[in-house]
Amino acid sequence: MARLIAPSMLSADFGNLHRDCRLVNKSAAGWFHLDVMDGLFVPNISFGFPVCKAIAEVAEKPLDAHLMIVEPWRYIERFAQLGVKYLSVHYEACNDRHLKDCIKQIHELGMYAGVAINPETPAEVLIPWLRQIDYVVVMGVHPGYSGQKYIPETTEKVAVLAEMIAGAEADCFIEVDGGVGLSNIAELEKLGAGVFVAGSAAFSSGDPKAAIRALRDAE
Ligand code: DX5
Ligand code: ZN
Repeated sequence: MARLIAPSMLSADFGNLHRDCRLVNKSAAGWFHLDVMDGLFVPNISFGFPVCKAIAEVAEKPLDAHLMIVEPWRYIERFAQLGVKYLSVHYEACNDRHLKDCIKQIHELGMYAGVAINPETPAEVLIPWLRQIDYVVVMGVHPGYSGQKYIPETTEKVAVLAEMIAGAEADCFIEVDGGVGLSNIAELEKLGAGVFVAGSAAFSSGDPKAAIRALRDAE
């Protein structure tokens, strides 16, 4: 797949949320990334349905929601109702039965199913799931906050996952989330990642549109 940038709206200016959504609409970004945190699965609380709805009203590109919450299966339908197209749940928030149920629900509601793994979770846990899901979210930081330093071991994990996906003949793409920037995006893509979440790398500069374009074009 062609490199796709998904700006994380957690790093947007919430006082000017619609302005920042329109900016993403006009940018080289492919999707909107929505980081939903509950203060239980991760130490931080971000935003929930009202904010996702406000983004959905203005977004002209697909919504990619990343649920960093406990019991994600309870909320899948609500995200489908908001028009979310890509929905990921955390491997660590589910047992096997829950994960199976989440994937089934996500698919039945017409969305693409992703499974996210934390930095300390080995890629191998996903082997039994690769043929059932549409994408893997590899966390490049400990989930909870934007603007953290990229964990270098993530790079090797992406390479391992890409091999596992090829070995399983699975139709599954890799999204890297956390700490992605100009210095690592091209290498991660070379190793097999296709979607790149960008929070601070997209929004912390004075010109997010230029920053998003630079990420998309970085070699
Ligand atoms: C981390 C979130 C990320 C994060 C990305 O918990 O899932 O999407 O906000 O932010 P940066 O790109 O600044 O690491
Ligand atoms: Zn995220």
